[in-house]
Amino acid sequence: MDRVRVALLGCGVVGSEVARLLLAQADDLAARVGAPLELVGIAVRRPDRPRPGIDPALLTDDAEGLVARADVVVEVVGGIEPARSLMHAAFRHGAGVVTANKVLLAEHGPELFEAASAADVDLYYEAAVAGAIPLIRPLRESLAGDRVTRFLGIVNGTTNYVLDQMDTTGAGFGDAVERAQALGYAEADPTADVEGYDAASKAAILASLAFHTRVPGEAVHREGITGVSAADVAAAARMGCVVKLLAIGSREPEGPDGPAGVTVRVHPAFVPRSHPLAGVRGPFNAVFVEAEAAGELMFYGPGAGGTPTAGAVLGDVVAVARHRVHGGRGPGESAYADLPTLPLSRV
Ligand code: HSE
Repeated sequence: MDRVRVALLGCGVVGSEVARLLLAQADDLAARVGAPLELVGIAVRRPDRPRPGIDPALLTDDAEGLVARADVVVEVVGGIEPARSLMHAAFRHGAGVVTANKVLLAEHGPELFEAASAADVDLYYEAAVAGAIPLIRPLRESLAGDRVTRFLGIVNGTTNYVLDQMDTTGAGFGDAVERAQALGYAEADPTADVEGYDAASKAAILASLAFHTRVPGEAVHREGITGVSAADVAAAARMGCVVKLLAIGSREPEGPDGPAGVTVRVHPAFVPRSHPLAGVRGPFNAVFVEAEAAGELMFYGPGAGGTPTAGAVLGDVVAVARHRVHGGRGPGESAYADLPTLPLSRV
């Protein structure tokens, strides 16, 4: 293969950075892949809208047509449709896919992974959980010979910033959310973050990888931070704790109540100030992993933002493009022991 054709679906905060880095680092990426990466087009809803730094000739509203001309499709549109249909179209055309779409993977992951496997192409998604933090591949590959028993994660930067503000300045929930919005961490409608939906999608993806099973998003017990008051945060401080929104997955042994399985939940929790997760401040993310052989591991870094997330996307593009050039495929989703997801009452 003399070049790898890359199609970009979406040109928002992350997509525009992916486009910029693909061009700025073209020589390095070509050397790492073994062939040049050619950005063949960027699908957007409004191609006529000016986008600083983006060559207008690359913009198109014909996403299906663009996908048909690609070896690697990068999906950074978000949401369920048209992202889901376009991914299926990519697989039908024999293209590998890189996505940052946690909601789509949490809701339709099994169907998409099966379609990728059937087409014998890659589906990579390092940027879907915790932005720039290498987490998907460590769980899927580096720890594949170990047995993860539990993870505790701060996987939503917006809520971590809000809780951090409440802890350090004594602000109430509403004021802290307004500060997060002013700094661009929280959306105008912060529901997905503060109600824990975003963290629950990420928890489902992490649990599926950590425990080699299929955890759908709806199986995750979810409680957001809207009920956390300044008084709760002050009470935690008096007990030597901080309040954090945690995504928790644990492997439950077989017991008198039922079979072995996994439980996955997202809720605010008191974390002792001595725990490594207590020191994760502002909009940062971290995931603390306990595994039988490795012991305790912590993955820490920026969990969002255009450039950090684009870096994670590009790492996947390089991996998928290498397979196009040199052959082979990533591990896919083949290694599932199919532990059942247990109701929270088992905990
Ligand atoms: N809204 C998310 C967060 C962005 O605050 O962490 C990254 O998924």
